[in-house]
Amino acid sequence: MRTILITGASGGLAQEMVKLLPNDQLILLGRNKEKLAQLYGSHPHAELIEIDITDDSALETLAADLYLRYGKIDVLINNAGYGILEEFEQISDQDIHQMFEVNTFALMNLSRRLAARMKESRKGHIINIVSMAGLIATGKSSLYSATKFAAIGFSNALRLELMPYEVYVTTVNPGPIRTGFFDQADPDGTYLKSVERFLLEADAVAKKIVKIIGKNKRELNLPILLNLAHKFYTLFPKLADKLAGETFNYK
Ligand SMILES: NC(=O)c1ccc[n+]([C@@H]2O[C@H](COP(=O)([O-])OP(=O)(O)OC[C@H]3O[C@@H](n4cnc5c(N)ncnc54)[C@H](OP(=O)(O)O)[C@@H]3O)[C@@H](O)[C@H]2O)c1
Repeated sequence: MRTILITGASGGLAQEMVKLLPNDQLILLGRNKEKLAQLYGSHPHAELIEIDITDDSALETLAADLYLRYGKIDVLINNAGYGILEEFEQISDQDIHQMFEVNTFALMNLSRRLAARMKESRKGHIINIVSMAGLIATGKSSLYSATKFAAIGFSNALRLELMPYEVYVTTVNPGPIRTGFFDQADPDGTYLKSVERFLLEADAVAKKIVKIIGKNKRELNLPILLNLAHKFYTLFPKLADKLAGETFNYK
């Protein structure tokens, strides 16, 4: 049986992933145990853990305890994350620190702690749920994009370091997905409305993620159209900036 750890486990995307993993030993991390219990109380093999993932010493204790009890973690899915879509003047110093703590530092710290053990056992897969915003920066996502670009940079280097040990690192970079993410990121719903036709459904994204578990896949960029936009952005950054700032400015 595979042992799979997922952070931000009560989120919309995580819920859909869990539905597709009924036969695995799951370790589900979240900020609120009651919420986790409500969602996953009936899963046959799920351990529910309330933890502040921004507290690195708590992650250290957790990793030691999990390895004592399970002996291995096959898959780490760093999924916890949030966004605020605001112009840069609206962002506070506290916002900057807090979002980096969750979206970037927690992902790095948990990866670091588990990767060390995966490396020893020469087996494992780290799947980082990042974002298309980590590949293409657009207006009103300066902070969110910065946290996600950093997560991709970290993942790309980690992948190379772990390559000789047969431990895989995949980044998942979806465009907008219909989840509770937008309750906080876009409280008045304007952005959501303008991207309605591109919206991915969480169950479809989860299916693609679950399919690549254990596979040596570099990145999963969704949907195809935004993946193409990303290639275009890389090849023609000046023109891409013009289009992103004018024609395709949805925020
Ligand atoms: N929805 C989108 O459009 C979209 C697009 C691209 C990438 N993503 C990324 O996909 C991942 C999953 O997001 P989702 O769409 O499923 O959104 P979601 O429903 O809001 O779930 C995200 C989960 O992350 C955890 N989280 C949020 N804020 C946190 C904080 N301050 N401290 C600790 N944990 C926190 C929460 O888990 P607990 O409540 O269990 O603690 C939350 O349920 C995120 O990394 C997000 O950035 C989302």
